[in-house]
Amino acid sequence: MREGGKSKSLSLTLEIQNPKTFKGSLTACRLTMAAAQLTIMEDIAPNKPLLQREHDEMKKLITVILLGIAIFTFAFSSPALAGDAADGAKVFSANCASCHAGGKNLVNAAKSLKKADLEKYDMYSAEAIIAQVTKGKGAMPAFGKRLKPNQIEDVAAYVLSQADNGWK
Ligand code: HEC
Repeated sequence: MREGGKSKSLSLTLEIQNPKTFKGSLTACRLTMAAAQLTIMEDIAPNKPLLQREHDEMKKLITVILLGIAIFTFAFSSPALAGDAADGAKVFSANCASCHAGGKNLVNAAKSLKKADLEKYDMYSAEAIIAQVTKGKGAMPAFGKRLKPNQIEDVAAYVLSQADNGWK
């Protein structure tokens, strides 16, 4: 059996809450990273100090690796939450301008991207724009497969900032 054996469990859970406000409507972005959970099970015969020392070294090494993974994951996922209007401008000209150049709507003129129309149709929020761009509506195609979630967030931020500026 596991006499004198050791069972060690290292777990690292990193939870980051990143609340963001988008035009009065609150978007709470919750990034939960159960970064890593590792269980080390091993049997070490007692009275073997050398093995014990190696075991301690191993524990340190694993802790460092887990921290590395957590930091890496955070560094590469946080920019996705930003909804960067400057990046959104490129997404817009490549995917949306064919129908929405200058904030107009060439297919359904009443539903332009101007602030008054967005408000009128309950579209003046990042959530509403993200949902419609992802799923599409009527003659507007869905972009959920063509664009990444962060690109959709960026283009939504761009549309809102342009609506605020009157699409100048
Ligand atoms: C093929 C033409 C077409 C393309 C391309 C297109 N749209 Fe649209 N868009 C429409 C139409 C049509 C509507 C009206 C949909 C409806 O409510 O029936 C619309 C509506 C909208 C609305 C709501 C406007 C309002 O006043 O209610 C937003 C916001 C919007 N589009 C954003 C985008 C974004 C961002 C992109 C690019 C990722 C995009 N659209 C690409 C045709 C298009």
